[in-house]
Amino acid sequence: MKVAVLGAAGGIGQALSLLLKTQLPAGSELSLYDVAPVVPGVAVDLSHIPTDVKVAGFGKDDLGAALVGSDIVLIPAGVPRKPGMDRSDLFNINAGIVANLVEAIADNCPDACIGIITNPVNTTVPIAAQVLKKKGVYNKNKLFGVTTLDVIRSETFVAELEGLNPANITVPVIGGHSGTTILPLLSQVENVTFTQEQIEQLTHRIQNAGTEVVEAKAGGGSATLSMGQAAARFCLSLVKGLQGEEVIECTYVEGDGSDAVFFAQPVRLGKNGVEEILSYGALSDYEEKCKKDMLDGLKGDIQTGLDFVK
Ligand code: NAI
Repeated sequence: MKVAVLGAAGGIGQALSLLLKTQLPAGSELSLYDVAPVVPGVAVDLSHIPTDVKVAGFGKDDLGAALVGSDIVLIPAGVPRKPGMDRSDLFNINAGIVANLVEAIADNCPDACIGIITNPVNTTVPIAAQVLKKKGVYNKNKLFGVTTLDVIRSETFVAELEGLNPANITVPVIGGHSGTTILPLLSQVENVTFTQEQIEQLTHRIQNAGTEVVEAKAGGGSATLSMGQAAARFCLSLVKGLQGEEVIECTYVEGDGSDAVFFAQPVRLGKNGVEEILSYGALSDYEEKCKKDMLDGLKGDIQTGLDFVK
């Protein structure tokens, strides 16, 4: 397996690369790319960890070399939020960064699975899809918005509230990755019953958990360590899938379009990326209403992305 991380010198990029260096299967390669001059140093630093994963660093003029032969490309490149900012405030800078990087992926490793972390994910994933379509290499089964952070936050907060081990909790999270488009399906958590008040409080906390971190970091950025873990979990699931194991993760993909063209939902990963889009099952009345109320906003975010690449 060759995994490339674009934006590898950043807060997420470094945490993610560390986790991949220690957890990718033996014999894998990790390719680190960033425009920041520190990236070769990050690669050297990681290379001293004794695992059978080869690490190489690539500076700003070596994007092609970083990408060639990649099976998976993860993109956390771009600017993060500061207090008072919404994810959509990042659009002006990050849209162009994602478009350029995805163009290079189309040229150098068109068959790779691509995991977009850069915000606003609701919009950067449609941008990536349009760029790949223009290049004639779009495969909807291989383009993912990484929404795993919403899933791990949900697992953590439910476990905290109920005094349970988070390892035993599964919470599907559907929709998108910003504000009310993040819809945790708390009615589907097994062996736990919540009051309506708890459901509303938990839903609100999960939807605003990113802002909780942004405010606590007080201008120092947004979630990097928990996001590194979330992206590593998603990447390792993709690796297992590509190696023939069946794994289920919630992720923002182009599905059947019944809710929106791009929608986060449970999918079965396998040798071809998305093997099957799974049903997210029955929603409670509250979840149904939350979904109905947020769909127009999500569709607007998607349209912004589609319009960006004309
Ligand atoms: P950061 O500022 O620490 O790191 C970003 C890195 O991207 C920097 O090293 C920078 O040099 C690099 N970069 C900028 N332009 C580039 C280009 N054209 N090519 C390659 N590298 C480039 O930011 P951080 O905290 O790592 O966040 C990165 C992105 O991830 C932000 O857009 C943030 O909003 C997003 N994010 C997404 C989450 C999710 O759940 N999907 C959660 C948290 C953050």
